[in-house]
Amino acid sequence: MEKKMKAIVIHGYGDSNVLTQEQVDIPELKPDEVLIKVHYTSVNPVDWKMRSGLLKDHMPLKFPAILGIDVAGTIEKTGSDSKKFKVGDKVFCRADVSNGGSYSEYVAVNEDNVAHAPESISLKETAALPVTAGTAWSSLFDTANLNSGQKVLITGASGGVGIMAVQFAKKAGAYVICTTSKPNIELLKSLGADEVIDYTEGDFSLKVSNVDVVLDTVGGETLQKAHTVLKKGGILVAIAGQPDISLAEKHGIKATRLSVQTDGKKLGEIARAIDEGKLKVVIYKEFPLERIAEAHDLSESRKAVGKIVVTVSE
Ligand SMILES: NC(=O)c1ccc[n+]([C@@H]2O[C@H](COP(=O)([O-])OP(=O)(O)OC[C@H]3O[C@@H](n4cnc5c(N)ncnc54)[C@H](OP(=O)(O)O)[C@@H]3O)[C@@H](O)[C@H]2O)c1
Repeated sequence: MEKKMKAIVIHGYGDSNVLTQEQVDIPELKPDEVLIKVHYTSVNPVDWKMRSGLLKDHMPLKFPAILGIDVAGTIEKTGSDSKKFKVGDKVFCRADVSNGGSYSEYVAVNEDNVAHAPESISLKETAALPVTAGTAWSSLFDTANLNSGQKVLITGASGGVGIMAVQFAKKAGAYVICTTSKPNIELLKSLGADEVIDYTEGDFSLKVSNVDVVLDTVGGETLQKAHTVLKKGGILVAIAGQPDISLAEKHGIKATRLSVQTDGKKLGEIARAIDEGKLKVVIYKEFPLERIAEAHDLSESRKAVGKIVVTVSE
């Protein structure tokens, strides 16, 4: 096996021009790790937030750094103590950027964080899942305990997290209300949304009330307004900003900020849910790894409908 691989490396914080392609060493395997050949990755907003230095206080990077969290690929090699996978298995997981991210041909990941890929979708589609589906699942079920018959509002529902959240919530039997802009309304209805509110046409929080759960993926003013639409005892899960605790107390709701890590066991559950529910992945645009800077710029525009997927090696 070659000792070097192509990777996108950054040597400091900055705009998308800091992303440069280099030849670097293939990661060494620890006994409990597997080496995964990365076929596809995807861009998440956290990638450009890390790159630009926005998150440097609580997620500092050690340079040179390889970004990228989502991994869809095949097992290339197993560590001496790893037992769960065999060479050639199709898998997906989150890469740990401090150990080398997925904008590279190979990643080494602890086998407990890896799961077999869903069978009903392609590996390319699978690359859209680890961060978004893990976050949607953890927010709705592990944190908010969403149940059948409950009413949920998902803001920013046409984004990567939102599209998975709409489908998970619907599959769980919830009544699903979403916010997005006009061009995406039909897509969200086709994925199971019961009501879709165009946030560009007035204040969404005046059009929805008495919900059991809010998943806010937008932050800022949207998050602030989301505190007002819940019934007493309801729960607001915020993934893109800090909820206002005094406002939450005033409205008699629980509000929590979530930072999600998803292990292999949870990804396995998600893969089963995708296969059983015939859930869909929406790919907005594809790029080869060499054009990762354009993929970052597009994600940073906050206009992607679904996921931006990046081909590393087919
Ligand atoms: N805490 C965690 O663990 C965690 C995990 C994953 C993501 N996140 C965060 O969650 C946020 C969402 O992530 P993502 O991957 O879903 O983002 P994304 O895919 O970039 O979201 C883009 C979508 O947001 C919609 N949007 C933008 N402004 C909106 C508004 N004011 N109201 C309603 N929709 C709006 C856009 O629809 P229009 O074109 O209609 O505007 C677009 O379709 C990011 O800030 C990300 O960093 C946090």
